[in-house]
Amino acid sequence: MKVLLTGGAGYIGSHTTLALLRAGHDVFVVDNHRNSSPVVLDRVRALSGRDFGAAEIDICDAGALAACLAAFRPDCVIHFAGLKAVAESIPEAVEYYRVNVGGTISLLQAMDLAECRKLIFSSSATIYGTALPPPFAEDHPIAPSSPYGRTKAQVEQIVTDWVAAADHRGAVLLRYFNPVGADPSGQIGEDPRGIPNNLMPYVLQVVAGRREELLVFGDDYDTPDGSGERDYIHVVDLARGHIAALDYVMTTEASAAFNLGTGRGVTVREVLRTFEAATGCTVAHRIVGRRPGDVGSSVADVAKAARLLGWCAQETLADACLSGWNWQRRNPDGYGPHDR
Ligand code: NAD
Ligand code: UFG
Repeated sequence: MKVLLTGGAGYIGSHTTLALLRAGHDVFVVDNHRNSSPVVLDRVRALSGRDFGAAEIDICDAGALAACLAAFRPDCVIHFAGLKAVAESIPEAVEYYRVNVGGTISLLQAMDLAECRKLIFSSSATIYGTALPPPFAEDHPIAPSSPYGRTKAQVEQIVTDWVAAADHRGAVLLRYFNPVGADPSGQIGEDPRGIPNNLMPYVLQVVAGRREELLVFGDDYDTPDGSGERDYIHVVDLARGHIAALDYVMTTEASAAFNLGTGRGVTVREVLRTFEAATGCTVAHRIVGRRPGDVGSSVADVAKAARLLGWCAQETLADACLSGWNWQRRNPDGYGPHDR
């Protein structure tokens, strides 16, 4: 199958590009490298032993994107490209709508011109409301609490309307929970710019000596030990989830949402214990107050993905800790020096 990935040089996109190449698909990556390095693409080529095309294009550049799709003529597009920092999306709300919503509209128009009718979209668990307790099934109320989350909910709606607007279109909306870990080779991984927002990259930088200590945001949530609880999914499992979604989307003429998570909630304290046991490293940390906007608990109901995609997570959190640490140790500056 010919698969075009927007944002294919990013954290989840690079692992998915590798999985697709290993599964024998032909891929093409579109990325403007706003949050990634082109170096990652050579590493994916080396790991897979296969070559593939790539173009530095902004998805908001409708003309360039349309020309690219018209030339490659993909059977399916996997749409990762976008901005993803919850806190940043509050002061930068309009920019988030421009890139995440506007970029998706130019992509759908480019797909129409290239007669590509199948789309897999990177959505997020952050669209679920938290008035009702987890686990969150796909029909759980949608009530995002940040501009970022609202862009994801809006794109889900736009894609669903795009599917309904013509025959033979199909879409899978993948709602990721908390991706962690790296390819076991240590050649590709998460390379956040500046101070990491997310727990696992922050832990890795503390252990590597780049940050003094982890601040644990809150110990008074209604969770087993009071610290925040999340559903951490190994990025290699997530990449496999896209292969399963690709098989599914090629046979559907509807729009369907799927959670990609493990179904197991893990607290911040449990993450630290698991990391220390897996790697033998101590994580310096200190409990502080809650982070504004955080929810206490977010855990997936994974029954639908198991039933219809035949997919479930296989890797453990310990695997994710070890592979993340392996990536960090081998690449102390990520893919190269950039603004930290
Ligand atoms: P990432 O930032 O590593 O990857 C996104 C890629 O898109 C980057 O390579 C970036 O350069 C590219 N990009 C950004 N704007 C672009 C534009 N205008 N044109 C072309 N390329 C552009 O992020 P990721 O963690 O790999 O996330 C991928 C997708 O999954 C995103 O849509 C994100 O919102 C979603 N998601 C991520 C998480 C997470 O915690 N990582 C959770 C849920 C959903
Ligand atoms: N945490 C800390 N200290 C830190 C960072 C995080 O204690 O320095 C805690 C948080 O309070 C939370 C847990 O670790 O309890 C996970 O936090 P992350 O920032 O890693 O992840 P979030 O669940 O807040 O958000 C992430 C992505 C969103 C995505 C969401 C759901 O950042 O983009 O998962 O998939 F939408």
